[in-house]
Amino acid sequence: MNENFIQQLFAERVGGNKFGNDAFLYKFEKVTRAKNAATIRNPSVELIDLGIGEPDWMAEPEIINVLNDEAKKRENRGYTGNGIQDFKDAAVKYMEKVYNVYGLDHINEVNHGVGSKSILALLPLAFINPGDITIMTVPGYPVMGTMTKALNGEVVNLPLYEENNFLPDLDSLTSEQRRRAKLLYINYPNNPTGATVSKEFFQKVVQFAQENSIIVVSDAAYAALTFDSEKPLSFLTVDGAKDVGIEVHSLSKSYNMTGWRLAFICGNELVVKGFASVKDNNDSGQFAAIQKAGIYCLQHPEITERTALKYSRRHNLLVEALNNLGFSVKKPRASFYLYVRIPKATKAGRIFESAEDFSQYLITEKLISVVPWDDAGSYVRLSVTFEAKDEDDERRIVKEVKCRFAEANFIF
Ligand SMILES: Cc1ncc(COP(=O)(O)O)c(C=O)c1O
Repeated sequence: MNENFIQQLFAERVGGNKFGNDAFLYKFEKVTRAKNAATIRNPSVELIDLGIGEPDWMAEPEIINVLNDEAKKRENRGYTGNGIQDFKDAAVKYMEKVYNVYGLDHINEVNHGVGSKSILALLPLAFINPGDITIMTVPGYPVMGTMTKALNGEVVNLPLYEENNFLPDLDSLTSEQRRRAKLLYINYPNNPTGATVSKEFFQKVVQFAQENSIIVVSDAAYAALTFDSEKPLSFLTVDGAKDVGIEVHSLSKSYNMTGWRLAFICGNELVVKGFASVKDNNDSGQFAAIQKAGIYCLQHPEITERTALKYSRRHNLLVEALNNLGFSVKKPRASFYLYVRIPKATKAGRIFESAEDFSQYLITEKLISVVPWDDAGSYVRLSVTFEAKDEDDERRIVKEVKCRFAEANFIF
């Protein structure tokens, strides 16, 4: 037996026999390693983490109480398969109340998922044959493309440029790409750009999908976290949307419940059915007590509104601080992400070749962690989910960020 035979058995999709080599490191792993190294080198300096893509708050005590009560009930102990009907009913009512989406069939046009990541990842299993295309946007959430590649499909990346308000240019797709494409993933409010869209954009997407027979997967993970008079907007409010696609909603960010793993898919009946079929072979449903706590959430959208106000407040602080230093950042109207074009250099002569280079500088020299994106211009994503004890502490942290940036003396 070759002692190292397991190393030889890894599939190409995870790096083949080079699996585990640093060359294949996921970007977030690089950020984590740099963070750890910087903390070891500077144990007395506070590391300010603006890189984390998940809420700093806990779920509300009422939600935890529901989980606590329901977890004790014998009837909730087992597999839930494709979910409990009460959660689906609550999801349909939530879509009416928060998004003005009416007429979803509560049995056939909605299903729960073990987080939206899992829904986004599983959908290609129902649709992608070798050679089929999934269209996604970059910078974006990589999970939208990984399963398609694993199935020997092809991923076409549409860049999101600032000059186009971070919208994809669907017209740039060739007729060959449109013919082979089966899935189009979009995500607004967008991670990482923070961009929001109007209903006209969704109308254009529906028209494009109808003309080219492509299924739309609208990832609405941040859709309810709006502020500054922006209202939550669903792709499904567009006439004809349900004929061409589905939307994925998550409780992770809207209810500070990333670890709970609860989301739902709604929209086109056949797509939902296809999802249910592949889901059945991958998980056995989320714990019923968690789904029941989720029902409480969906009945209380004001929880999300409270959370969104916090993000808005923190965005105000950070945007003002950065713009005072010479950056030109625009406050988003939703989500907790602030997307910032990188400076060219420091006055002391440190030139930034890429966003990754800039982010490594920030973590190593300034102990500020951010996430770099070099897909369509060089930007870093700052997340206002940093840990702060109260509003005074929020101001203290942003002031500290401003001080450390000011010392760097950036050139733009
Ligand atoms: C754009 C986007 N979609 C989906 C998700 C997945 O969220 P969850 O699986 O927690 O529902 C995330 C998480 O970061 C995200 O940023």
